[in-house]
Amino acid sequence: MSPPLLKVTKANKVFHVGSATVHAVTDISLTVNKGETVAVVGESGSGKTTLANLILGIEIPTSGEVELAGEQLKGRRSKTVRRKIGLVQQNPYSTLNPRKSIGQAIGLPLDVHGIGSRAERRRRIGELLEKVGLNAGHRDRRPLALSGGQRQRVAIARALTTNPDLLVLDEPTSSLDVSVQAHILRLLRDLQQEFDLAYLFITHDLGVVRVIASRVVVMYRGRVVEEGSVAAIFRSPRHRYTQLLLASIPTVSEEDDAFKPDWPWDADVKGDGDPAEGCPFRSRCPFAVERCGQEFPDMRGSGDHRYACFNPRPETSEAIVNLQAEKLERKKA
Ligand SMILES: Nc1ncnc2c1ncn2[C@@H]1O[C@H](COP(=O)(O)OP(=O)(O)OP(=O)(O)O)[C@@H](O)[C@H]1O
Ligand SMILES: [Mg+2]
Repeated sequence: MSPPLLKVTKANKVFHVGSATVHAVTDISLTVNKGETVAVVGESGSGKTTLANLILGIEIPTSGEVELAGEQLKGRRSKTVRRKIGLVQQNPYSTLNPRKSIGQAIGLPLDVHGIGSRAERRRRIGELLEKVGLNAGHRDRRPLALSGGQRQRVAIARALTTNPDLLVLDEPTSSLDVSVQAHILRLLRDLQQEFDLAYLFITHDLGVVRVIASRVVVMYRGRVVEEGSVAAIFRSPRHRYTQLLLASIPTVSEEDDAFKPDWPWDADVKGDGDPAEGCPFRSRCPFAVERCGQEFPDMRGSGDHRYACFNPRPETSEAIVNLQAEKLERKKA
């Protein structure tokens, strides 16, 4: 069997800021296969961008490994590796140079990698503009003359310039309004099918996860607390933090009160202990047991759904799952 396209094994990143130590990412392992979308979700500060930076080689892990198609990546990324991983960031306003034209922005990776003659580059830029739903008329414009959604299309075109296998998308739709967000998600889905792209899709929005991803990794304060297929996790979250995230999606709450915890789930008690020891969620969790303060739980569960919790939420009962399905059917009809 061929290795996964991306494999992260026990990655750690510790920052030292003055006398403080920040465990931005702790023992994170994940895989992304060719052509699939894995979403990474978690609230602000949970370590999502740091994880992306470790994959891209922008940050060097304190320990742990990153492999691309079976090849271990160490230190700064070679040009060959950089061609295989594209990056789309959250804010298309700050990632495009206001002084360069759209054509220059998209062509930059071709210049960096010395790909093609002038005429070939011009052709490729035209082709990419079309692929992302723009046209030749946009080529000579500056970023300021485009809308937010159009700029994000440019950022996507630029990330595709070198024919990558993997795109790391760090909150690519968070700065866009909802209707534009939907267009960009559809574009990403079409491009994925056409080019057999894999996506590592970082977001804090589980509503977006349901639309775009097949698997999801839930992070809390630098740790993976739950992971699995989108179907399994939306049907029956086992970690209380995932339950909180699900309960906060308005559409899910309307259809389904089963996820609404019967404990004060919006209480935001900041964690006090060192997240490197024990479960970082324990100070917000009414179900914490003594052990939660002593060690971080090993992942339990099975292949397509695993969670790190000593006292998990019970599985959603068959009866409730059926009820949800019925309600959904009625809503569609
Ligand atoms: N270069 C750095 N130096 C020191 N601390 C850092 C650095 N980068 C990130 N951190 C810290 O690491 C933690 C994780 O940050 P990170 O940016 O990865 O979170 P995030 O999940 O991407 O958050 P957001 O949703 O706000 O983008 C935070 O506590 C942050 O302050
Ligand atoms: Mg971030």
